[in-house]
Amino acid sequence: MNRKSTITKEQIRRWLRETDWRRLDTLFGRADRVRRDHVGDEVHLRGLVEISSHCQRDCLYCGLRRQNRILSRYRLSAEQILACARRAVHYGYGTVVLQSGEDSGIRREWLTEVIRQLKRQTHLAVTLSLGERDRADLAAWRHAGADRYLLRFETANAHLYNRIHPPRRPGLPDRFDLLRTLRQLGYEVGSGVMVGIPGQTIDDLADDIEWFGRLDLDMIGLGPFLAHPHTPLGQEYAEASDRPADPRQVANSELMTYKAIALVRLVCPDANIPSTTALASLNPQNGREEGLRCGANVIMPNLTPLAYRRQYEIYPAKACLQEEPGRFDQQLKQRIAALGRRVGVGPGAAPHYLERRKAEVPS
Ligand code: 5AD
Repeated sequence: MNRKSTITKEQIRRWLRETDWRRLDTLFGRADRVRRDHVGDEVHLRGLVEISSHCQRDCLYCGLRRQNRILSRYRLSAEQILACARRAVHYGYGTVVLQSGEDSGIRREWLTEVIRQLKRQTHLAVTLSLGERDRADLAAWRHAGADRYLLRFETANAHLYNRIHPPRRPGLPDRFDLLRTLRQLGYEVGSGVMVGIPGQTIDDLADDIEWFGRLDLDMIGLGPFLAHPHTPLGQEYAEASDRPADPRQVANSELMTYKAIALVRLVCPDANIPSTTALASLNPQNGREEGLRCGANVIMPNLTPLAYRRQYEIYPAKACLQEEPGRFDQQLKQRIAALGRRVGVGPGAAPHYLERRKAEVPS
C-alpha cells in the first residue's frame, strides 16, 4: 500500500460490497476531505486531443480494435495537434494530453518534433497516452519534453488480463514493466483500470486498488467498462445480460465507480485522479461533478476537432461526442465554481512527483 494510505485491504473489500447510501456517504465525505487536505480545492483541466484512431491491437473490449472494420480511421496532422494545443492555452489549461490507439504510424521522429514544437510554442505540460511503445520511443519523447505518460494496466488479475487482451510476442515487457520504465525515464506516471469488466470480482478490484498504492502512481484514472457492440467482450456482455449475474462480479455502474474513486483517494491521497468521460457517459447530467465530490480532482475536456469524435469511439455513447470545446469549457468552469472549487492554474503535477524529483535531482 501507499505509505500514506488510510485504509486496509479488508476495509476496501467491505466498502466495495456496501450498498447502504447513508454509510456510503461517510466514505465519499472522507475521500473528499482527504482530497482537500492533500491536493486542495483546485480542479486541474487537461485538454484531451485524440491524435489517431488507428490501432494495431485487438483488445476484446475496445472499439478502436483493429478488427472493428466499421470504424473509419484518422490521424491528425502536426498542425492540427498544435491548433488544439493553442485552444488549450486559450482556455487557460495547463496540460495537453495526446492520446491514440497503439499506432505504429505515429513515428518516433515525427512525434518528437511535434512535442518540441508544443514545448517551444506553449507552456503546456505534455501528457502522452499512446499505449505500449518501445523504450527508445518513450526515451526520445521524454527527451523532447514530454512530461507525463498514461498507461492503464486495466486489471491486475493476470488471468483476466490475458482473457481480454490478444497475446503479445513472448519476451516483450508487460504493462507493469513499462510503468517502471516510464518512472525510470523521469515521466510522471499514470495508470488505471476499468470497473466492471466481465469476470472481474470484488477481490480483483480490491487488488487493483492495492496495486495503485504499491506502484505509488502520480495519476490514476478509472472508468466503468462500457459494452461496445462491435467488440467480442461487448457482445458477450449483451448475451449474458439475461442470465443471473455472478454475485462476485463487480458492477460496471456509476455507484461502483464512485466507490472505487473514493477508495483510490484514500489509498493514494496525493495522486491526481480524473473524473472520467466514461463515468460522464453513464451520467451525462452530473457524473463528472459527482466524481469530483468523492475524491477526484481532474477533468479532461475533449479538444479533438468535432469532425473526428465519432471515429474515436472506444465505447458507445461517449459523453463528449457533441461537446463543443468552447461551450463545454464555459459550463465546466461554472460547475466547478458551483461546487465551491477553483480551476487549477499551471501544470498541476502531483505533489509527490515533485517531491520525488527534488530528491532525485540535487539542486
Ligand atoms: N469501456 C470502458 N473503457 C474502455 N477503454 C477502452 N475500451 C473501453 C470500454 N469498452 C478504456 C481503457 C483504455 C482507455 C484509453 O479507455 O481502460 O486504457
